[in-house]
Amino acid sequence: MNTPAFSLVLFGGTGDLTMRKLLPALYQSYVDGGFKPSSRVICVARSEFSDDSYRAWMNDNVKGYVKERLDDAQWAAFLTRIHYLKLDANNLDSFIPLKTKLDENNDERVYYLATAPSIFEPICQGLAHHGLNQNARIVVEKPLGHDLQSCQEINDVIGRAFEENQIYRIDHYLGKESVQNLMALRFGNSFFEPIWRRERIANVQITISEELGIEKRGDFYDETGAIRDMVQNHLLQLLCIVAMEPPASMDANAIRDAKLAVLRSLKPMTPDEVLHNVVRGQYTTGTVGGKEVPAYVGEEGIKKGSTTETYVALKAEINSWRFAGVPFYLRTGKRMPKRMAEIVVQFKPVPYELLGGVPAGSNRLVIQLQPEESLRMYFLSKRPGNQMRLAPVHLDMDSEDFFSERRMDGYERLLLDAINGQLGLFVRRDEQEQAWRWVEPIINAWQDLNVIPKTYMAGTWGPPAANALVARDGFNWHEEL
Ligand code: BG6
Repeated sequence: MNTPAFSLVLFGGTGDLTMRKLLPALYQSYVDGGFKPSSRVICVARSEFSDDSYRAWMNDNVKGYVKERLDDAQWAAFLTRIHYLKLDANNLDSFIPLKTKLDENNDERVYYLATAPSIFEPICQGLAHHGLNQNARIVVEKPLGHDLQSCQEINDVIGRAFEENQIYRIDHYLGKESVQNLMALRFGNSFFEPIWRRERIANVQITISEELGIEKRGDFYDETGAIRDMVQNHLLQLLCIVAMEPPASMDANAIRDAKLAVLRSLKPMTPDEVLHNVVRGQYTTGTVGGKEVPAYVGEEGIKKGSTTETYVALKAEINSWRFAGVPFYLRTGKRMPKRMAEIVVQFKPVPYELLGGVPAGSNRLVIQLQPEESLRMYFLSKRPGNQMRLAPVHLDMDSEDFFSERRMDGYERLLLDAINGQLGLFVRRDEQEQAWRWVEPIINAWQDLNVIPKTYMAGTWGPPAANALVARDGFNWHEEL
């Protein structure tokens, strides 16, 4: 894609996300030649920095997060494209230097709000007051709200200054290569479509597990928990990509219409169903990656006796022609044995055992998103010998074996898409609010029924109840066969 010249304004210029993800991703785009001669990044925050002292700050705080292709000459050249402006969002006059800077040219204007949502309102007002909302795009990060109402309020605030087609709500999982590959797989091939339905699929499992705990985000995480942090957004977006109908076209709104239809078809849970179909967990002390780690309640910033969940496993059902009756098991947790994200589509067994002992779950398609990207298809094959004995085997597609191109990180792709005006991988307002509509009754049931998380030892796969959740339906969580 031929990226146009741009001015990208990063609000939250000294924040964690800017440091760890956004600036390193922009460096990669720079190395790829994505910066036209006038393209620049204007970092904005309340601290006192000049361009030079901010660049020095980047040397100390950002460079270490560049994981590949770090080259001193390129880095130095990249730094010349970085500018800094001090701005107090609550002071309208403080936007004047930003306007002056942006008015220096006619490049694409993109604002990235990597700040707490509590200052979205003054930022949007400030931009609109100075006419900076015209011919511009705005990118916003989750969490957008902690329930439906607060999400609507934030969307209203942004919507007063920007039209929906100017608003880019990021879910960085949608920027991952394998998520797009899943669309390629489903809609670019003919042989998956006939089996991608309730008649052939027994269940779908989507797992995002992390070794990490809550790092330095205790205060934020304790107010949020895994259901808001991961389920409402990343896991439901992955579910949508698995379950959606082929969109009418690859137009952004056609894709988002198809995902919205899935979200609308998710069967709402009653409080009783929440008790039955959702497992809420919290880690206790244990060992992860060979290191002893504290319990969640012993982490910095966590309230004494906190009952915030660090793990969720649940069974979702979709009332659609294609998937009615097929359980979608979703799970996510902090302090699990390994970092992994995968989607497992488990096919139904053969109608009867013509060939004798066929292990359950032997036909599976496993799409791994991380740590490596791969596609693995499990099936049964005859074991050599004079008897008909079956054994599980698999076919692998490791995309690194086929393609030599480097993979873009989710943020890299999505930043480029925002600059290029491609909305397809961003979440539309109605999708986001629909996701809250489905998640909110779960959170309310936990509160009303006082559901305390079940404990699991750090370094394990969550509370045993999560195994019972799938075992009850005659299944098991996918493990390497
Ligand atoms: C973020 C969550 O959205 O996703 C974090 O807020 C989580 O808690 C992260 O660690 C996981 O992203 P990834 O790409 O590292 O799997």
